[in-house]
Amino acid sequence: MPAPTIVVKDLKKSFGEQMVLKGVNLTLDSGKINFIIGRSGGGKSVLLKHLTALMTPDSGDIFYDLFSIFRANKKELFELRIHMGLLFQEGALFDSLSVGENVSFPAWYHRTMKAKDIKEKASELLKDLGLEGSFTRSVGELSQGEKKRVAIARALILEPQVLFFDEPTTGLDPLLSGVVDELITEVGKRTGATIVVVSHDIAATLTIAHKINLIHDGRVFLSGSPEDFKISKDEVVKEFIFGEDSNKAI
Ligand SMILES: Nc1ncnc2c1ncn2[C@@H]1O[C@H](COP(=O)(O)OP(=O)(O)O)[C@@H](O)[C@H]1O
Ligand SMILES: [Mg+2]
Repeated sequence: MPAPTIVVKDLKKSFGEQMVLKGVNLTLDSGKINFIIGRSGGGKSVLLKHLTALMTPDSGDIFYDLFSIFRANKKELFELRIHMGLLFQEGALFDSLSVGENVSFPAWYHRTMKAKDIKEKASELLKDLGLEGSFTRSVGELSQGEKKRVAIARALILEPQVLFFDEPTTGLDPLLSGVVDELITEVGKRTGATIVVVSHDIAATLTIAHKINLIHDGRVFLSGSPEDFKISKDEVVKEFIFGEDSNKAI
């Protein structure tokens, strides 16, 4: 599967009385690094769960090129997931598996790689992320930052054509955040994947994004290049980019 362009059409989702997504329209460009930013509680993670077909909308649709993911059957979704790498905001590692087993899990689950290649690739990714020699460690003994990096390695193991990162650098110190930002850029260049990053790190967003989508009040308020965001005179955008709490809006 080539890296898809992902189109979100008039997506709506409520939880009880609370309407979180009020008609989201956006295009995530093929082979590019697409950021989604917005206030805490604004629906970014909910949007990501729709993009990965983990949640179904009240109305609206999402297309990977011409393919509607909500009209896909189980088998089609399973196959689509082979090409999808996911990093959840919570990390969501398996506590009963070792570090290496966690990273290898998607490859075992989808049976797309040989055992030897899986081990090699997992070790290489762990090394890239500063966790060399951690293959057999147990998840329980890891720090939050280490867990995050293991989850990132797991998202990358299948070299997916679509990659979703929900807050990849939250909880990491500046040095490690930089490592992760560089890794995202490098993976994008190397694999040509369509990359989607939810972030509250405005500095990183403006540096590595090709396109930024600002979610505000349940809709896409502005979609454009980092330059578009920097020169915007709109108060909502300015507050986001330069505001006091621009780096706290998780
Ligand atoms: N499964 C759920 N059930 C009920 N409410 C939810 C659920 N998931 C998210 N929400 C609510 O939707 C809103 C948006 O959440 P979320 O997408 O996690 O925000 P963020 O932009 O910080 O990622 C929040 O008010 C949250 O409480
Ligand atoms: Mg979130």
